[in-house]
Amino acid sequence: MSTKLRLDKNESPYGLPDHLLESAKKALASIEANRYPDPTYSSLRESIGNYVGVYKENIVPGNGGDEILWLAFAAYVSPGDRVLTLNPSFSQYEHMCKVFKAERLAVPMTLKNDSIEVDEDEFLRSLRSQNPSLVLLDSPNNPTGVALTDLFIHKVLDSARCPVLIDEAYGEFSSHTFLEDQGMDDLPESTMILKTLSKAWGIAGLRVGYCVTSQPTARKLNGLRSPFNVNLFSQAIALELLKDRSWMDKRVKAIVETRERLFSRIKKGLKRWQVFPGQGNFLLVKLPDEQRDLLGYLRENRIEIKGFDLPWEGHWARITVGTDEEMEKLIDAVEKV
Ligand SMILES: Cc1ncc(COP(=O)(O)O)c(C=O)c1O
Repeated sequence: MSTKLRLDKNESPYGLPDHLLESAKKALASIEANRYPDPTYSSLRESIGNYVGVYKENIVPGNGGDEILWLAFAAYVSPGDRVLTLNPSFSQYEHMCKVFKAERLAVPMTLKNDSIEVDEDEFLRSLRSQNPSLVLLDSPNNPTGVALTDLFIHKVLDSARCPVLIDEAYGEFSSHTFLEDQGMDDLPESTMILKTLSKAWGIAGLRVGYCVTSQPTARKLNGLRSPFNVNLFSQAIALELLKDRSWMDKRVKAIVETRERLFSRIKKGLKRWQVFPGQGNFLLVKLPDEQRDLLGYLRENRIEIKGFDLPWEGHWARITVGTDEEMEKLIDAVEKV
């Protein structure tokens, strides 16, 4: 049976490169599994800090970016509070609101012919009038792939009377990120940037994410996390990977190039689909009515893509960008429908 094409979870199509597998194996061999990890995660935070260009005191390690979200809610959200997000946005935001008994206010993005845009004025109006306890902004946004402008994020930070979390889980794939452009200086103290090793670094299964924030907020969040939230094995591999980012940069470049090729291929070849430009490792497409059963058909052919109900009518799907070969298989299967 052919291997399944997993294009539904925005994972990396690549395993670890051989030279890293070797050094990771050596690092794993020297682990003392009978010992607890260092609860301060000093070397992990230092290594992440070097990667993003901040001090380790600005870093909070997480069991995936998901745990960073959890920590932000634990720190700032009480039952009955409001949390302001975009609609659509990462599904965990809604889940976290349910878990923490908060009300999710979701400002719809606007669909305009071939593009999806943030209704910036409406978002800022809601921010001023609804008094949320936390703002969550994913940039690039999941599932639309839209990257927010620095100007808009600055306006949000200027207007917010509450902490703002900017979720840059897909930042490495984007032509710009707020953190890279702006750095951490001069931002309000409670601004948090969520990042992860799950996507560009390709270790989703090992669960290593982090938050970049001011030192007081880092102390607050570090004080809330469980003391040993990243296990020794994941930490050892993350430390090996972070020693050399060149392989990761090459892979990001390959994925971005494949994304752009896929975009043109869909635009030229799958005329009944509507495809939207995206800055993540995925593309959002609108399917024609007669293909509403496409996902089921693809599943029968061992190809998974993610279907969505979005604030606009029609049938929507998000395709994770894999290798060129994987994208060819997908297009071949779709053309046979
Ligand atoms: C926008 C966004 N943020 C955060 C995450 C969390 O990723 P992880 O918990 O694997 O770090 C995801 C995962 O899909 C995501 O799409």
